[in-house]
Order: sequence, then C-alpha cells, then structure tokens
Amino acid sequence: MKRMSTAVDGPLAAPAGPDRPGDPGRADGPVFEARGVDVEVGAGAATRRILRDVAFDVRDRELVSIMGRSGTGKTTLLKVLGGLRDAAPHSVVRASGVPVDGPPEGVIFLFQDYAASLLPWRTIERNVSLGLEGRLERPQVEQRVTEALDMVGLADRRRDYPWELSGGMQQRVQLARSLAMRASVLLMDEPFGSLDAMTKATLQDELLQVHRDLGATIVFVTHDIDEAIYLSDRILILEGGPATIARSIPVDLPRPRDQLATKELPEFLALRRTVYEAIVGDA
Ligand SMILES: Nc1ncnc2c1ncn2[C@@H]1O[C@H](COP(=O)(O)OP(=O)(O)O)[C@@H](O)[C@H]1O
Ligand SMILES: [Mg+2]
Repeated sequence: MKRMSTAVDGPLAAPAGPDRPGDPGRADGPVFEARGVDVEVGAGAATRRILRDVAFDVRDRELVSIMGRSGTGKTTLLKVLGGLRDAAPHSVVRASGVPVDGPPEGVIFLFQDYAASLLPWRTIERNVSLGLEGRLERPQVEQRVTEALDMVGLADRRRDYPWELSGGMQQRVQLARSLAMRASVLLMDEPFGSLDAMTKATLQDELLQVHRDLGATIVFVTHDIDEAIYLSDRILILEGGPATIARSIPVDLPRPRDQLATKELPEFLALRRTVYEAIVGDA
C-alpha cells in the first residue's frame, strides 16, 4: 500500500503535539472513561433502560471494538462517547478527562451509513474540507484535503460527486475527512458492514495504517468477529437488556497484522471461539 506509506514522512504523520486538538490529557489519563453509565429512552411510563452501569476505559492509541447482539445498545454507547446523546445524569463519561457534553474536540464519528453522511451536492474534495472551512486559511485547507485524499487513494476522484463513487470509495471519503481534521480519536459504527469482502479487507488495512501512523485512538463497533479480532487490542462485549459490558477480551496478537498470516495463528482461532461463545453463548 504505497499511498499510505508515503504519508508516513509527510505532515499527516505528525503524531502527538500541541497542534493536536482535543487531547490535552494525551499520554496521561485514558482517552475515554465511562463509569456507571445508564441510558434510558422514552418518557414517563414508556421509559425503557437500554444501558446499565457501563464502565470501561479506552487508553491512548488503543483500538477497542464493541460487540454484542443486534439491538443491545452498541450504537447508543458510541453516541454517548461522542456526545451525540445523553446518558442518565449520574453517569460519568469523560473524554481526555473532561466531562462529555456535546461532541468533544478532535473526536470524529464515522457512521455506517456513509452515503447519508456525505453531502451529495458537494464534490469529494468539498466533502473532505467540510470540517475545516472557516477554521483554516484556504491554502491550508487545500493542502490538508490533498494529503488526506492521497492517503486514502482518492486523489484522482476529488472533483467527482459522492454518487459517482462506489460504496468503498464513499467510506474512504469519510475516513479522509477525519484525516483532514487531524482527528486523534475515531468512533466508528459498523463502518465496513455493508461492503464486499475485498473492499472491507483493504479498508481494514488502511484503518490499521492510520491507527499506527497517526497514533489514533479508535472505538470500533462491528458485528463481524474476525474483523474485531483482526483490528483490536481489546474487545468489549455488551450483553443483556438493559445491556452492560459482560466481558473485556484482550487481543494480544502481534502487529502489524496480516490478512492471511494473522488469521492463521492458533491464537486467532482461539480468540474467535472465545468471542463467539461470549456473544452467542456456548449452550
Ligand atoms: N431514540 C430512541 N428511542 C427509542 N428507542 C431507541 C432509541 N435509540 C435506540 N433505541 C433502542 O435501543 C436499543 C439499542 O439500540 P442500538 O444502540 O441502536 O443497538 P445496536 O447498535 O446494538 O444494534 C434498541 O432496542 C433500540 O430500538
Ligand atoms: Mg447499531
């Protein structure tokens, strides 16, 4: 993947430092802290609790996956971390030590529905520049957009519109947008869920490269066990109704990972069984 490695020496490779927004606590405390997180939906008699007493940390530069059956509250939990929805008042949710109250600086949310997150009337480059406009001078915006599009291999499609791109390319545009914004934290909700296997594998490897080169902290929701193991340092299992974190499974597989070699390791196969049993139950 030449296009990714060329960026290692470029300005995008600049990891920690004062110009990285939103991570004053970098290297010190955890990037996310959740303690006693409860989430309820509805009102009055129709109130229903979705999450109860959810507690975990995400460390700096860690890649953590969240798994669990459909409807357990994975998306809800990710939105709480990203400040896109409120938890019950007594819940503690901190990003870099600061209580989350709205989307924290430097944190980017990537949705499963990439088509809906791109503006159809804007070109690819103007979708990527979206979060930078008004915050940086035009030449700087231009430079960041060019670097980000280079990194995800879409430099030659910058003047196209989203609907002219395949699903995998559209998802890359979302990733480019977070790269252009120098996001140090990515919250990703089943981002590769609807892509074909080959595209998915390529994007997984691009994400791992971003994780490594930019030192990003990533929370990744997926229903794909192999994907979770392949990417993660740790897998959290949400379970129950209301759901809580039932298991935290460390993934101590060597990095860099490889689509074939990593998945042939006996440890990978053992983890696949552990995670499967944790989600589906061994009954
Ligand atoms: N705004 C809402 N109002 C009512 N119910 C909701 C709302 N958001 C989510 N839910 C419900 O909360 C549960 C968890 O949803 P979600 O977080 O989307 O689960 P997952 O992502 O694990 O599939 C589901 O039963 C869903 O129907
Ligand atoms: Mg969901």
